[in-house]
Amino acid sequence: MDASALGNELSEILHTEAELKQRLSELARDIEADYGDQPPLLVGVLKGAVMVMADLARELRFQAEMDWMAVSSYGTGTKSSGVVRILKDLDADLTDRAVLIVEDIIDSGLTLSWLKENLLTRGAKSVKICTMLRKPDALKVDIDVEYVGFDIPNEFVVGYGLDYAEKYRNLRDVAILAPHVYS
Ligand code: PRP
Repeated sequence: MDASALGNELSEILHTEAELKQRLSELARDIEADYGDQPPLLVGVLKGAVMVMADLARELRFQAEMDWMAVSSYGTGTKSSGVVRILKDLDADLTDRAVLIVEDIIDSGLTLSWLKENLLTRGAKSVKICTMLRKPDALKVDIDVEYVGFDIPNEFVVGYGLDYAEKYRNLRDVAILAPHVYS
């Protein structure tokens, strides 16, 4: 879906489809160089990571095995609790595997911080993170992120997998949602 189809629901386009694609190809070259002839298992976190996983996996110049998890925050009802519940687990055995988590966005960092530890306890040889977007001003934990597409302001963003109430995920660009939509 193009931004033009959304009228005044978006207040600003932060990164166009072309910019996302260009940046993703740069990240893919870095990932290829770092992993050499030992490609990682790509682990996508549903649902937001679907777009970045689809584009990154096709951009990579090696066989890219993919697996998926779905997680949700537990207890408080906010995604910043840091306590995560697994809704759908991986199919793959991670023993001695290099794992690259693929995400759409790191906000507080709590989900990824938990996930990285969780995957390491399963015997993964290494666990690295690739995220298309990161909000430095929203981070609540120190977390090493090896591959970052763009750092963005602490605004409500949608598109390229990111939703508001399950809408806007199929917007081609990443955009700031106009406040009148959610307030
Ligand atoms: C988003 C995103 C990350 C998480 C990041 O998922 O895909 O998994 O939030 O937030 P954090 O850094 O504050 O932990 P969300 O819970 O919105 O689910 P979705 O991917 O299904 O949209």
